[in-house]
Amino acid sequence: MTIAIRDSGAPLGHEISGVDLTRPLDDSTFAGIEKAFNNCGVVVIRDQNLTPAQQVAFTRRFGEVERYPVGSFGLPGQDEILVVSNIIEEGKPIGLIDAGRNWHSDMLFTQRPPRCSLLYCLEVPHQDDKIFGDTLFASTAAAYDGLPAGMKQRLAGLKAFHSFRAYASTKTDGREKEGEAFPDVIHPLVRTHPITGRQCLYLSHSLTRRIGDLGETETAALVRQLIDHITSEPYVYRHHWRVGDLVIWDNCSSMHRAMFDYALPQRRRMHRTTVMGTQPF
Ligand code: OGA
Ligand code: MN
Repeated sequence: MTIAIRDSGAPLGHEISGVDLTRPLDDSTFAGIEKAFNNCGVVVIRDQNLTPAQQVAFTRRFGEVERYPVGSFGLPGQDEILVVSNIIEEGKPIGLIDAGRNWHSDMLFTQRPPRCSLLYCLEVPHQDDKIFGDTLFASTAAAYDGLPAGMKQRLAGLKAFHSFRAYASTKTDGREKEGEAFPDVIHPLVRTHPITGRQCLYLSHSLTRRIGDLGETETAALVRQLIDHITSEPYVYRHHWRVGDLVIWDNCSSMHRAMFDYALPQRRRMHRTTVMGTQPF
């Protein structure tokens, strides 16, 4: 296959065309996809018609497939797939409804957060021809590069402390205890991308509790300042979903956020797969 790459105009979100993931993918075509992905951090492959098994097989090209460790929304019969959906069937949600309304990077609360996540779109919430449920992506690599030199110096070598447990305990929807299985973690606030070597800001709106030796209030102020910077216009790509889209994001060089601007009877249904990563450094 011969692929083409269309620049999104943002540092990330480039579209790869000329790919049919239902057909065998030769190594050189995959290498082209992987290179574009490593370079920009989020790539979009449209117009796919994937079975769950085909999505898992393609995901495996990026590395070992990891099951989502929280909740129990694996797809029946193919539990490497996490169902992300607002649909209720027989009184029960078929998937994780809230996969991240705040800016985050997937599973930052683990020791070895995933290299990447792949989200495949099966149903898009819409009313007439208006589409809802976009996902926003921001480049933590381009945002780091754009920091003033003084701020880069201030951040150099700082560790950040993240607590999924503390965050989960503030929930009021019956998921208060779901953080208990995950010990708090410490990662570098600026991490080096394991493949490109780029410096990336690495923090989360809801989970980052302490940075360096700053107190709670100063930590919260710095988290807000950095996330405001990362998510400012020059670093953001907004994805308007279409059925058949596969979006792949790098959990080191990007963060993302779901727009929760729809409700049933508008249905949204996505299949996510996740690829194991390495310990941040
Ligand atoms: C996720 C996620 C965003 C969305 O699946 O990790 O954050 O828009 N999804 O569903
Ligand atoms: Mn996510």
